[in-house]
Amino acid sequence: MKRATRAAPGKGNDMTRVGIIGCGYISRLHYEGYERAGAKIVHVCDIRKEAAEAVGSRYSARVSTDYRAVIEDRDVDLVSVCTIASTHKEICLAALACGKGVVCEKTLTDNAADSAELVLASRRTKAFLSVAYMKNYFPAVVQAKQMLAEMGDVTSIYVRTWHFHPQLWQSPAPEDVLQHPSRIVRNYGGGMLVCGGSHVLNLLCGFAGRPTKVIGAMQSRPGMDFDIQTNAMLWLPAGGVAHFEAFWHPFAAIGYERNGWDERIEINTAKGRLELYTVLWNGSENHGALLVHTDADTGRVTEYRFPAVNVFDLEMAGMIEAFETGGLATPSAADGYVVDELIEQITSSHRQGGKGLPVTYRVQ
Ligand SMILES: NC(=O)c1ccc[n+]([C@@H]2O[C@H](COP(=O)([O-])OP(=O)(O)OC[C@H]3O[C@@H](n4cnc5c(N)ncnc54)[C@H](O)[C@@H]3O)[C@@H](O)[C@H]2O)c1
Repeated sequence: MKRATRAAPGKGNDMTRVGIIGCGYISRLHYEGYERAGAKIVHVCDIRKEAAEAVGSRYSARVSTDYRAVIEDRDVDLVSVCTIASTHKEICLAALACGKGVVCEKTLTDNAADSAELVLASRRTKAFLSVAYMKNYFPAVVQAKQMLAEMGDVTSIYVRTWHFHPQLWQSPAPEDVLQHPSRIVRNYGGGMLVCGGSHVLNLLCGFAGRPTKVIGAMQSRPGMDFDIQTNAMLWLPAGGVAHFEAFWHPFAAIGYERNGWDERIEINTAKGRLELYTVLWNGSENHGALLVHTDADTGRVTEYRFPAVNVFDLEMAGMIEAFETGGLATPSAADGYVVDELIEQITSSHRQGGKGLPVTYRVQ
């Protein structure tokens, strides 16, 4: 396959040629990351022509307003899909059919059935399809996974992702939040569970495997069509339980960084405990994450303090390396599907008054 024979990033003229589909907020973190990884941005697209032109002029790249022009461009090897979630399935399927590698922003789609279909399509075409849950690239997360491999089965996990979102607590709330569908539902397909919760559900599965049963409880605010808070219990495959809480809160100065970003994961096994404190998702170059290990036998507590990193740069470099060497797409489309399945089941449990629901996975 072509991607298996391409040169390493940034070496010679054989660099991976990237197309960017969707030139809104998140796209900058993709194209700057690719650029720093030595890839070349050759074609960019947005239905808003001015947005595409702004990025295109930066890279002297071709500019289109129809994504089909990018996926049919023979000079494009890999596309980043940075559009809103409701468009992901159509664009990813079309890109895979054109033989392109695909990095799709999270969530993979806005429902579990479509995400399962994408997994099957990527397996059928043997194409590179990754979903951009960038937190997997934090050195602290990588180390936590390495340490867990030596710590036995996970017996319990506590996951808290609290994000400071003062606008949602204004009275009255901003108009775009009170419209139905709100901007949040239109762009992301859901509220806090989808926006912030999806990331930590992905990490949770990476640490402990696919949950077998869920209970969910969701809360909104008056006039809003999305959750600002979701709590869940998720039964782990080895028998333990995860407690999960995702919340858009009004407290400016809480959390590990005292900046309102309050995300913490505690993982327990018979051999010890890991505590992971992540940093502000779009400011990770400012602070380093913290990992604390407690050994159950000796009681020894070790703090691992990591340097600040731009996690999107690490992610895009990882994507390019895997694409060029024929390596595994990480996180995989299946990882993305599992999150969408859990979001659906947690929501369904909430709608049934907090009923415990077994989770049956449509694809393995
Ligand atoms: N990894 C993260 O932490 C993170 C953070 C924010 C957003 N996201 C994800 O990134 C994606 C985009 O979010 P955003 O905040 O950048 O939204 P955004 O609204 O700022 O950007 C989306 C862009 O896509 C364009 N677009 C929409 N439909 C299109 C189509 N059919 N063809 C071409 N362009 C189209 C829009 O005009 C817009 O410019 C979403 O899936 C979101 O969940 C991920």
